[in-house]
Amino acid sequence: MKDKYGRELTYLRVSLIDRCNLRCFYCMPHGLLSPFREDELLTRDETAEIISIFAELGISKVRLTGGEPLLKKGVPELIRRIKKFSGIREVVMTTNGVLLKPFAEDLKAAGLDRINVSLDTLNRENFKRITGMDKLEDVLGGMEAAARAGIGPIKINAVLMKGYNDEEVMDLVRFAIAGSFQIRFIEWMPTAGAIHSVRENRFLSSEFAKKIVEEKYTLIPDDSNPHAPARSFYIEGTKSSVGFISPLSNAFCAMCNRLRLKANGMMKTCLHGKEDLDIQSLLRKGCSREEIKEKIVSAVWDRPEEHFLNNQAVPHRDFVMTAVGG
Ligand code: GTP
Ligand code: 5AD
Ligand code: SF4
Repeated sequence: MKDKYGRELTYLRVSLIDRCNLRCFYCMPHGLLSPFREDELLTRDETAEIISIFAELGISKVRLTGGEPLLKKGVPELIRRIKKFSGIREVVMTTNGVLLKPFAEDLKAAGLDRINVSLDTLNRENFKRITGMDKLEDVLGGMEAAARAGIGPIKINAVLMKGYNDEEVMDLVRFAIAGSFQIRFIEWMPTAGAIHSVRENRFLSSEFAKKIVEEKYTLIPDDSNPHAPARSFYIEGTKSSVGFISPLSNAFCAMCNRLRLKANGMMKTCLHGKEDLDIQSLLRKGCSREEIKEKIVSAVWDRPEEHFLNNQAVPHRDFVMTAVGG
């Protein structure tokens, strides 16, 4: 499946649920933004069916996200089903890690290939300020359990925020090296409610983090995945790598191979764009798989060439991060 700019779509990000057990202020700037009702969410059978349709259209990598995906019931069972679809090569997950400890063994047994864990700080007080919860120990224990279960390599995602974790860049890198994790620093993106006010004076470009890391370590470019949103580097003399995700300062749209399915069955062909197709309604109306495929292919063909975060002339489309999953 290609768009009209020639980009092949092989990666589907699936938000399983828009609820979360943390309250990261950059993600939910006004507390819990009204979540979907239970009947608005895709059922597990609907999610599996939609993913199987995407698999037939050439999707080979599926990422489960949220909110917090482990709050959805029956995730290991869903993973087991997805892994059986012909063409699916990788099933991965982005989680906040709070529930990883109890789930690690089951996830591994179900066939989960990798996880990315959101972890912005190693300081208990900073963790509470950022996430609103005192759960740093659960996350660290969860990462350990996942590593022990053999789900790896684990990637850490850290969103950069002045006044919150700008002094922890080196600590986070050392932590990643000590645990043989990979780590990526992410520029804080504008999302619903936070576009102007919350980010003001707190935004840090990923160059800021890169300079700090380069003071101590030699970075060797890793260009093995041209579609990845991160610019990645091996950290010389270690088993770790560091990446910088720069949606604002360095758009990576030209190589974007990603589609998104929201927890309510809406497809998005660009994180910052509009909702392109209501796949849940098509399923519930009884459309055939072939009809749904045609509509997906047509929406994908027309996807935007790039986002317009840096172009004031084009209005930014607000979106709620917990409902899209990054
Ligand atoms: P890998 O498969 O390990 O490369 O993971 P990933 O980077 O695809 O997924 P992850 O969920 O860890 O996302 C990391 C960060 O990149 C999140 O903050 C996402 O919002 C951001 N990101 C991923 N894809 C896009 C994209 O297409 N556009 C923008 N602006 N940000 C993205
Ligand atoms: N800007 C950048 N990254 C964000 N994430 C959540 N909200 C934002 C934002 N406003 C990150 C999380 C998670 C990933 C899926 O997206 O930290 O790691
Ligand atoms: Fe939850 Fe992730 Fe949003 Fe934090 S960033 S509130 S962990 S969905």
